[in-house]
Amino acid sequence: MRKIVIAIDGYSACGKSSTAKEVANLLGYSYIDSGAMYRAVTLYFHQNHITIDNPKEVAKAIENINISFIFNERKAYSETYLNGLNVEEEIRKMYISNQVSKVSSISEVRKNMVSQQRKLGKKKGVVMDGRDIGSNVFPNAELKIFMKADLAIRAERRQNELLEKNQLVPIPEIEENLLARDKMDSERKENPLIIPDDAYILDTSELTLPEQVEYVLQLATEKM
Ligand code: C5P
Repeated sequence: MRKIVIAIDGYSACGKSSTAKEVANLLGYSYIDSGAMYRAVTLYFHQNHITIDNPKEVAKAIENINISFIFNERKAYSETYLNGLNVEEEIRKMYISNQVSKVSSISEVRKNMVSQQRKLGKKKGVVMDGRDIGSNVFPNAELKIFMKADLAIRAERRQNELLEKNQLVPIPEIEENLLARDKMDSERKENPLIIPDDAYILDTSELTLPEQVEYVLQLATEKM
């Protein structure tokens, strides 16, 4: 069986990461959370008070950012490291969610991240989730999935994920963040969130995680 690239794109909080992680584990593929990379850049900019409207300052800051993923055996997924520090928990917080779409729309940031993502997927055998993976990072990916789901369901799922990390965020605040990010991600100039022509559209509103995983695995097996 040949190794393939599986690109999973879609709106915020539709279950992309949970599905991608599980599919990667079952296939013995690596999983790359491209959103985590933009979140890590956002955290760095926040911590270092980078003026994001200043392209020179942004370009210089990016040179100092090193993002890596290290597999956590106990949790059975890769965690995000920023310049050698585990930032997996910090980058999921609401203050990062509220800034990340602005940061990810910066041209210098996108160029750098996309080039790193292409390197990470060069050898294939990878499941990558994000917003522009099938449309821009890997336009020749053998399998492209585009996920969507009802807003109320997405917000409830995100609230539960945050609760597991002891963060209680009210539903209206989560919905507002999801809608704002969807809008910015879809309307930005560079690599906007679009549905690639050759993507399989998966509405996860009524699906359980095992059902989503099964759907992707079945298609993946056909493409191998
Ligand atoms: O996937 P997640 O919701 O963690 O992504 C956070 C943000 O990173 C998105 O809202 C989007 O602004 C940005 N992103 C992007 N391109 C990707 C992945 C994420 O612009 N491929």
